[in-house]
Amino acid sequence: MRILVAITGASGSLYAQRLLDNLDPSQHEVHVVLSQYAPAVIAEELPGGLRLPVGVISHNLKSMNAPFASGSSAPDAMVIIPCSMGTLGRIAHGYSQDVLLRAADVALKERKKLILVPRETPLNLIHLRNFELLLLAGATILPANPSFYTRPQNVVQVVDTVVARVLDHLGVAHQLVARWKEAEE
Ligand SMILES: Cc1cc2nc3c(=O)[nH]c(=O)nc-3n(C[C@H](O)[C@H](O)[C@H](O)COP(=O)(O)O)c2cc1C
Repeated sequence: MRILVAITGASGSLYAQRLLDNLDPSQHEVHVVLSQYAPAVIAEELPGGLRLPVGVISHNLKSMNAPFASGSSAPDAMVIIPCSMGTLGRIAHGYSQDVLLRAADVALKERKKLILVPRETPLNLIHLRNFELLLLAGATILPANPSFYTRPQNVVQVVDTVVARVLDHLGVAHQLVARWKEAEE
């Protein structure tokens, strides 16, 4: 699969790191693009910065030379993790002024998977209306709401409960988190 991972300036850079850590570039073509504000939040949240696994291809936000800027070369799936309300709103309203936004627009028009992982809380009516628009346009909204029934013991394990659901929706096999009742069967 050809997967584009987009990272924005929402809190939750660790979600992006753990997703990248669990996508094997020898199995999938993995591309990464950062929004303009993502580096500032990554600097706050990830000591040592974002680690790009060997084989991951990174793209400049401002260059439309990336393949997925065109419908003729859309990725199979795009994940925006974490997804800021600003980026989410811009996608919902068709802004395409950089390669991240354009790629999301392309994913929707080409009927490819577009998975948005917002972290924001609480939500206002504008956020909810934008969620609705994006759902109607075919996106998946997968909020970064961790689960606790697997009794995670540390922050990475908490984060992985969300990353596991992202991998499920991408269709990427994983054993990151035990599934409900799996251990007992
Ligand atoms: C430490 C920090 C945490 C932030 N967390 C969020 C967040 O969880 N959700 C959100 O929508 N914006 C958050 N923001 C604000 C966004 O970074 C800001 O709206 C930015 O313009 C988003 O730009 P982008 O969508 O191009 O990444 C945060 C900003 C900072 C500095």
